[in-house]
Amino acid sequence: MRLVLLGAPGAGKGTQAKKLIEKYGIPQISTGDILRKAVSDGTSLGKEAKSYMDKGELVPDKVVIGLIEERLGQNDTKKGYILDGFPRNTAQAETLDRMLNDLGMPLDLALSVDVPKEDLLKRLTGRRTCNNCQQMYNVYYSPPKKNGICDKCGSELFQRDDDKEETIRKRLDVYESQTLPLIDYYKKKGMLKSISGTGSIEEIFSKVCAAIAK
Ligand code: AP5
Repeated sequence: MRLVLLGAPGAGKGTQAKKLIEKYGIPQISTGDILRKAVSDGTSLGKEAKSYMDKGELVPDKVVIGLIEERLGQNDTKKGYILDGFPRNTAQAETLDRMLNDLGMPLDLALSVDVPKEDLLKRLTGRRTCNNCQQMYNVYYSPPKKNGICDKCGSELFQRDDDKEETIRKRLDVYESQTLPLIDYYKKKGMLKSISGTGSIEEIFSKVCAAIAK
């Protein structure tokens, strides 16, 4: 299965992608995760990316396209992949199409997870992630048993730097102006399916799996 997950910041792309990895045994390729790793490793790419991410802006196309090209070329993508957070604008989508055709592994489906804007802010301000195992929590919807501590491994939880309210609002604006046009892009190609991302994580996962199975 070769899938692009579309959706606003906080729509639950990462949450659903992690469940898909378990079910289908294919890798999640998240440009956000790759960039955050570069930031925490202190690489020059990470330093460049951080200045954009902290403002809620998109990192320049040439940077993320290079990262994606390298990642898609790895062996584990041969049996399929879940793209999460890429593409983010029409230029990235067009480049991706060319890249995947060259690699002989074109997309099967673009799946949009739709969540009302008023819910997104609460999901993002409430998000907490484990420093060690990356398990995700939400202080409003799925809090850990002990405040600030991961239920699974006992490590500390952190809040992403770009999950501050002002930065979230900027990310949502960027999504509407630059990423939302991709809905039409994939619709015109006959590759788009949309599901509601409101409800429990399990309910949404059932809808995701049903959309993939059709
Ligand atoms: P990125 O990391 O891609 O962030 P994003 O798209 O803003 O998406 P998020 O990770 O915030 O949300 P999500 O949809 O994955 O939601 P999640 O599952 O975590 O990008 C970050 C930055 O990197 C960008 O701003 C940009 O600067 C840069 N970047 C990345 N890719 C780029 C690209 N291609 N080009 C240029 N720049 C790029 O869930 C959110 C919260 O909600 C969690 O707490 C979760 O527990 C909770 N939740 C999930 N589902 C539910 C539910 N059903 N009910 C209640 N709560 C739920």
